[in-house]
Amino acid sequence: MELTDAEVEALGSHGYFVRDAFLGEPRALAVRGAALARVSAGALRPAGIRRGADHSLDTSVRGDHIEWVLPGADAELEALWIHFRALGEAVSSSAYLGLGRFDVQLACYPGGGAHYARHRDAFPGQSNRRLTAIWYANAGWKPKDGGLLRLHPEDTGAPLDVAPVLDRLVVFLSERLEHEVLPSHAQRLALTAWFYGRGP
Ligand code: OGA
Ligand code: MN
Repeated sequence: MELTDAEVEALGSHGYFVRDAFLGEPRALAVRGAALARVSAGALRPAGIRRGADHSLDTSVRGDHIEWVLPGADAELEALWIHFRALGEAVSSSAYLGLGRFDVQLACYPGGGAHYARHRDAFPGQSNRRLTAIWYANAGWKPKDGGLLRLHPEDTGAPLDVAPVLDRLVVFLSERLEHEVLPSHAQRLALTAWFYGRGP
């Protein structure tokens, strides 16, 4: 896999890029099917944020359900995992980001207005997440379904909304880009890879 010049340029100057048709439709639909099967099997757990002495789950910050995806767990999900690995290698070599290992998470927003408040995936200076890559699995997404990803680029100040349509990939610098998920009114599926820096 290679990044285009425009993708490298966008990552450097704006901190993100968006690529459509990451896998191609047949494979994207197969990965979507595998993700839906995990949801139907009851494999996902509320992400929420634990608050207070009783550790109750606060879904006002984040309303998705998640599962960590390991390579080898499922053939279709592994196909996406392999594409994420190739993406990490491409970003490392063309954008000079020394990326190493990565984690993959399946997230499902059940609808009903579930959202994720504005946040960053990492904070500058800590040796943790450096690059976020989100792949969407929503075949037939319509504007009324909501669940847009809103990016807040540092340079322009103008937020950018990205529709979570099937086979769209959004890549951004975890330490730089604030983002949020706007209320989702239909089931919304995404698989996210977080890449860490090399070294200890
Ligand atoms: C996250 C996140 C965005 C999305 O899980 O940290 O910001 O579009 N997800 O699913
Ligand atoms: Mn995030």
